[in-house]
Amino acid sequence: MNMNNISLIGFMGSGKTSVGKELAKLLPDMELIDLDSYIEAMSGRTIPEIFETEGEAAFREMEKSALEDIFLTGELTGSSYILSLGGGTVTSEACRRMIRRNSTCFYLKASIDTLVSNLETWPGDRPMLKGGKSLRSRVEELMTTRGPIYEKTAHHVIKIDGNDYLAAAVEIVSLP
Ligand code: S3P
Repeated sequence: MNMNNISLIGFMGSGKTSVGKELAKLLPDMELIDLDSYIEAMSGRTIPEIFETEGEAAFREMEKSALEDIFLTGELTGSSYILSLGGGTVTSEACRRMIRRNSTCFYLKASIDTLVSNLETWPGDRPMLKGGKSLRSRVEELMTTRGPIYEKTAHHVIKIDGNDYLAAAVEIVSLP
């Protein structure tokens, strides 16, 4: 078990990748891993391609095996990681258990307004937001089920409405 690992969870657009980068500057001995990028490198495909060809369930399995790989490698090599997870990684119970056991987990908690505004500004290619619904109603719908999951998975909740990623990273490293 390595509680020196840090994991960042939260909805798409909450700033997990950006806070991870700020944390990596503050904690140069830790290696930054973005789970989506790790899966893309591992599979040789982009996240939208994986969703398109194999579907969400297969992607969730890939998230689980990627986490198993990462935590096991950390154990074997004595490395500590800053992990920026995907917005839906914690929808799997197995992933939640692994994350809580092997890392100190931080929920980057942003309001629906912040999430919608960030996702409008930086839409990216996010399969979970596709479909006929408006962006706001899709975010609200997903957050209704995911909000409580983020809260119960995290060891600490970090509020992040002003998009001040450095401040969030400083708050994380300052916690006892
Ligand atoms: C997802 C979030 C994405 C990515 C995939 C699914 C989700 O990551 O893992 O598109 O279910 O919320 P980000 O939160 O980094 O956008």
